[in-house]
This record gives sequence, C-alpha cells and structure tokens, in this order.
Amino acid sequence: MNTIERALHKAENENQIAANPTALPEDIKSQLDKGKEELLSTPMSTKNRIDATENGNLLNKERIENIDWDKLAGMGFVTPSINTDQKSIEEYRNIKRPLINNALGSGSEGIQRSNLILVTSSVPGEGKTFSAINLALSIANERDTKVLLIDADVARPSISKTLGIKSSPGLIEYLEKNDIEFSDIILKTNMPGLSVVPAGKQHRHSTELLTSNKMVRLAQELSTRYPDRIVIFDSPPLLAATQGAALAGLVGQVVLVVEAENTPQAMVMSSVNKLEFCDVVLLLLNKTQVYMETGYYGYDGYGTYGN
Ligand SMILES: Nc1ncnc2c1ncn2[C@@H]1O[C@H](COP(=O)(O)OP(=O)(O)OP(=O)(O)O)[C@@H](O)[C@H]1O
Ligand SMILES: [Mg+2]
Repeated sequence: MNTIERALHKAENENQIAANPTALPEDIKSQLDKGKEELLSTPMSTKNRIDATENGNLLNKERIENIDWDKLAGMGFVTPSINTDQKSIEEYRNIKRPLINNALGSGSEGIQRSNLILVTSSVPGEGKTFSAINLALSIANERDTKVLLIDADVARPSISKTLGIKSSPGLIEYLEKNDIEFSDIILKTNMPGLSVVPAGKQHRHSTELLTSNKMVRLAQELSTRYPDRIVIFDSPPLLAATQGAALAGLVGQVVLVVEAENTPQAMVMSSVNKLEFCDVVLLLLNKTQVYMETGYYGYDGYGTYGN
C-alpha cells in the first residue's frame, strides 16, 4: 500500500492517472508527467511505519483533535455548534456549491485535479485562512463528502492555531524527510468528515520543498486516487511570495479571496494574471457589507474568472 492509501484508509477505486494537463506551465507539467510515470510503473515503497516522537508529539494516526466548535462559532466560523450564525451557513452553502460541482459533479469534466482547491489572495490578511477553514467545515458537513484541509502557508501557518490544535509535524516534515509517511501528518478531528494536515516546522528551504517533485507527486496522488475527497490548501498570498503561484499549478480550482473595499483593483488583476494557466479561478469577495444577490447582507460573494 502506498502512503496516501495508508493515510486515507479506504481506497474504493484505483483510478487512472489523469491525462494531458494542458493548462499547466511546462516545468510543472513535466514534473507531473514524471510523477505519473513513477506512479504507474513503481509500487510505492514500503517504508517503515514510524511511531516516533517529534517535537514532543506522538505521530499517531489514531489521535483525534477535539476542536472547540462553540469557540470557533464565536469567531465567525460555520461549525456544528448551535451558536453558529445561520446567515454565514447559508452564505457558505452558496460559496461551496460551484466548487463541489466542479470537483465532484458534472462540472468536473475537463478540469484536471478538480478535487484539489487552493485558497489564496493577493496580499496578506484578506481572509485566506478564514475562508479555507470555513469552506472545509461547510463541505465536511455535507453528507458523504470528506475534506482534507492542508496548511500550505508554511511561512505563516495559522490553521492549527485557529482550530486549537497543538503544533505537530506537518507538510514540511513530510516533504523534507523520507521516513515520514503522509498518514503520519494527517490529524483526524471530532468532525468525522474533516481531517487536517498542519504546515509543520519553519524551514528555510520551504519554497523549494513546496515546489519539489514530492509535492507534485502528492498533489497528483491526492487527486487521482481519491477523487471523491476534496482537498483544500491554505496558501501564502500570491503577490508576496512565489509559493502561492506554484501551488496554483498543482490544483484544479483556485479561490482568490479579495478583501472588499481594501485590495486595489490593480493588485487583483495582477493576481488574476498570475493564475491565467489555471482551469478554474473563483473570486471570493470577503468582508463586504454590500447587499448580495443571494438576498443577504453578507461578507462573502463570488465573481468568476475562468478559462
Ligand atoms: N469574513 C470575515 N468575517 C470576519 N472576520 C474575518 C473575515 N475574514 C477574515 N476575518 C478575520 O480577519 C483576520 C485575517 O484573516 P485571515 O487570517 O484569514 O487572513 P489571511 O489572508 O489568511 O492572512 P495571512 O496572509 O496573514 O495568512 C483574521 O482575524 C480573521 O478571523
Ligand atoms: Mg492565513
């Protein structure tokens, strides 16, 4: 069994590798091709399972993180708590609908790695993490839909802290080391459909790790072997670091969060230009108080941009 199979337990379908990712830049495309060949030709290595301690935390698949839903509801998140704002629940229903349809429904045709969704923005503080967590919670509440929320903002990680999860090894350790399996960095939570992958420790070569062949292979495997799961990546801002654009090349859908009445239009357009090779880009207008077509005075709304 390979690392992802071990991690996600149920391999219902051994899906074929998606073919011909035409929309990607050449360098990422060739890395993907290489990863595909390896996947097809080589059974994944049978690495030793480790139950070691890292940073004082047990690497344990069975650990379940108990997230305090009431506390999160008080912070504006859409949780199972009865204190969750009903208007927010409704707004995130509208926001997730096109993403789920593109990921798993009729809209997925022709979109490579459609179940991988990157949440990004032009500059810091626009609400990427807030939106990524809310999308994950909203989708995980959907019957039969499992969500893996990955903190890929490795320079300024905040998903674990926001969810009240103690620091533990994450994406960086997996990418850096050969003796950590993907299953070792997945944290189950007290929402059955939701699992979390923390960013892990700070690393001065984090950009190289995020653009490494191993990261490309991970994205490919998450997409092709588990197309019924939605994977949401929180990312760094596009205009402040190169990592965001590189990650956008690995996913099928990008949610570009735009802070209403704050982010200059020119910046949004620069970001959109950086994403022009992506199959699907959805703009999420965050923190707005204007009246939305959904009939609510909400803080979120969509515009679309896509090929
Ligand atoms: N729609 C919203 N309603 C209420 N608070 C929000 C909303 N969006 C974001 N916030 C708050 O604004 C702050 C910044 O949001 P967040 O951390 O999600 O931004 P970010 O884009 O991830 O920032 P960074 O680039 O630093 O990672 C947080 O305190 C968050 O809780
Ligand atoms: Mg953030």
